[in-house]
Amino acid sequence: MKIKLPHSTQNWISLVGATIALISFFMIVFLFTVSSIFGQNNSYLGLIIYIALPTVLIFGLILIPIGMWRKTKREKKLTKREEKEWPIIDFNDIRHRNAFMIFSVGTSIFLLASAVGSYEAFHFTESVEFCGKLCHSVMKPEYTAYQNSPHARVACVECHVGSGASWYVRSKLSGLYQVYAVTLGNVPKPIETPIKNLRPARETCEECHWPQKFYSRKLRFEKHYLNDFNNTEWDITLTMKIGSQVSALGLEEGIHWHINPNVKIEYKALDQKREKIPWVKYTNLKTGEFFIYEDNKYKIDKKTLEKLETRVMDCMDCHNRPSHNYKPPAFFINDAITAGKIPKDLPLIKFAAMDLLSNEFQSTDAAMKSISDYLNNFYKDNYPEIYENKKNLIEKAIKGIQEEFKKNIFPEMKVKWSVYPNNIGHLEFIGCFRCHNDNHKSKEGRLIKKDCNLCHTINSQGPSNNLQLASINSSLEFKHPGKDVGNKWKEMLCVDCHRGLNP
Ligand code: HEC
Ligand code: HEC
Ligand code: HEC
Ligand code: HEC
Ligand code: HEC
Ligand code: HEC
Repeated sequence: MKIKLPHSTQNWISLVGATIALISFFMIVFLFTVSSIFGQNNSYLGLIIYIALPTVLIFGLILIPIGMWRKTKREKKLTKREEKEWPIIDFNDIRHRNAFMIFSVGTSIFLLASAVGSYEAFHFTESVEFCGKLCHSVMKPEYTAYQNSPHARVACVECHVGSGASWYVRSKLSGLYQVYAVTLGNVPKPIETPIKNLRPARETCEECHWPQKFYSRKLRFEKHYLNDFNNTEWDITLTMKIGSQVSALGLEEGIHWHINPNVKIEYKALDQKREKIPWVKYTNLKTGEFFIYEDNKYKIDKKTLEKLETRVMDCMDCHNRPSHNYKPPAFFINDAITAGKIPKDLPLIKFAAMDLLSNEFQSTDAAMKSISDYLNNFYKDNYPEIYENKKNLIEKAIKGIQEEFKKNIFPEMKVKWSVYPNNIGHLEFIGCFRCHNDNHKSKEGRLIKKDCNLCHTINSQGPSNNLQLASINSSLEFKHPGKDVGNKWKEMLCVDCHRGLNP
């Protein structure tokens, strides 16, 4: 049976358009079915099903009326029929009826499919695959670190977009710009932080971690390995005073005091990374009382100070690396030795690894080769005996260091620990000591203290076979590991010597 259609549909442009539309429609249905049945969550497939093919489909559909319009116009010219603005639709004409049926059924299917499609497209652009893998060379550092973080199963958008339409639009707009930047290859390397289009932290983090939730003290167990011949182990156990020990006190004291609903801390920073802080203000929202602390080390006048942006402190000022923590070599080598990935029995491996990692590398491949070359030469030239007898340990160390390197340092994107400082501590990054350095004083004589027992108590410390232990509810005075640095650890900031590598 032949379906009769209006004369105007019989032209090449409409025919090509209809063919394109039909083919892409069936491809979408086919790929969608295949990907649902086999549960494939491939980001490229998603890109094709939800973005590329629908674009082609719409292009095909648009060609149909264009062809019809051209044909009608040409025929009008030929027959010189009287001009009418609108085409006449006559349902007594079977061709018009057929065209109308095809058009209305087709439109319904198309609308239904695009409703499903846009819902899927929405989900797709919100998926971890889309964010983390699609621009994979660019997002590789973030994606890798994310997978090794406590948030590995929290979707990127939970932190980066959050709920609400305006943030959705904002993040998608900046996303469009990013797609454009990736295509043109002009993404800044490294990507600059603090990022502007990241949702303000409190709203997003508090979806899952709300401030009223009571966090009691937390025990941290740190293992360090010294720079000496035997990679001597040095352990430190600390009790972190995140919340108070008595739950009725809630956030009245301790580290999370800063996010107590009655406390507002504001500060001004001189640099983009917010590391140089000359001015801090604490307001007690319940009583209205406030204190302004100034660091006289920065000699700046009132006018410059007023011009600086005032930021209200939130989760991000301490937890700025909750899911992309690029560890400094000092930490990731320690962790790998503890995990047994780098053999502790290989003399001087801590020293050698840190020395090696102080170099700049142009690419990951070059780094892999340097790690292998460096360690082989280090032992061959300096300790031929170890080189002969412990070859298998050297091999294992090379593999271990290479693996850790790939999780924490990304030369292609110029990403490493020193580019993205972590604000949570004070050892390898300045962190808490940006304010807590005994230099920020208020007129009333209040101080943002560096007191070693303010934030934690040290429960034990020392070589693993000769630990110094504190009795319950008391704290040890810190003993600097390994090298005797005298009182310098009290007088200076830890970061004056510690920069992520061999101090
Ligand atoms: C737990 C919350 C959280 C999750 C989940 C998360 N991020 Fe982030 N992300 C952050 C925070 C916080 C920053 C640091 C922002 C700053 O310093 O301004 C950040 C920074 C970034 C940056 C800027 C560069 C950098 O390394 O700091 C990129 C790019 C990024 N995230 C991408 C992603 C991608 C892709 C995913 C999913 C694979 C993801 N994020 C998942 C919280 C998160
Ligand atoms: C969608 C929920 C969700 C969101 C949003 C979220 N987190 Fe988490 N967070 C988690 C889960 C789940 C864990 C793991 C808890 C565990 O291991 O016991 C976690 C763990 C943590 C931890 C403890 C890490 C550790 O080493 O044990 C910190 C700190 C943290 N989140 C901070 C943040 C910050 C800061 C943000 C906002 C940028 C944030 N989270 C956003 C769900 C979330
Ligand atoms: C922007 C500046 C700033 C930063 C950064 C900062 N703090 Fe504070 N902190 C303050 C101020 C201001 C006070 C109140 C000082 C006072 O008592 O007058 C305070 C007080 C404290 C207290 C005592 C709370 C109590 O029980 O009364 C603890 C504990 C604390 N901070 C821990 C930390 C930790 C841990 C970090 C790093 C992860 C940190 N702070 C980073 C400004 C800061
Ligand atoms: C003054 C700095 C500071 C601020 C502000 C801050 N935190 Fe923390 N938070 C810490 C420190 C320090 C720890 C202990 C971390 C450790 O030693 O690993 C911690 C621990 C946590 C933990 C893990 C608790 C556990 O028992 O494992 C979560 C979750 C957390 N913070 C969420 C938040 C959220 C959400 C916000 C914002 C509403 C926030 N924090 C604001 C410094 C801060
Ligand atoms: C303002 C709060 C604060 C003050 C003051 C403070 N610390 Fe800490 N310290 C921290 C936090 C937070 C961490 C945990 C960092 C982390 O989660 O990785 C930490 C960790 C440490 C660690 C363990 C580091 C590691 O990786 O093994 C040592 C040791 C330490 N502090 C010593 C000191 C000494 C000594 C002082 C006094 C000069 C001091 N701290 C003062 C907040 C503080
Ligand atoms: C004057 C310089 C100097 C200062 C200041 C200093 N350190 Fe150190 N630190 C060193 C040196 C040098 C080593 C290497 C010792 C060794 O391996 O024998 C070291 C090693 C360490 C280690 C073991 C390192 C590792 O890689 O595992 C820890 C932990 C440590 N210091 C903590 C601190 C803390 C906490 C502070 C601040 C309160 C501090 N240091 C301040 C010079 C310093």
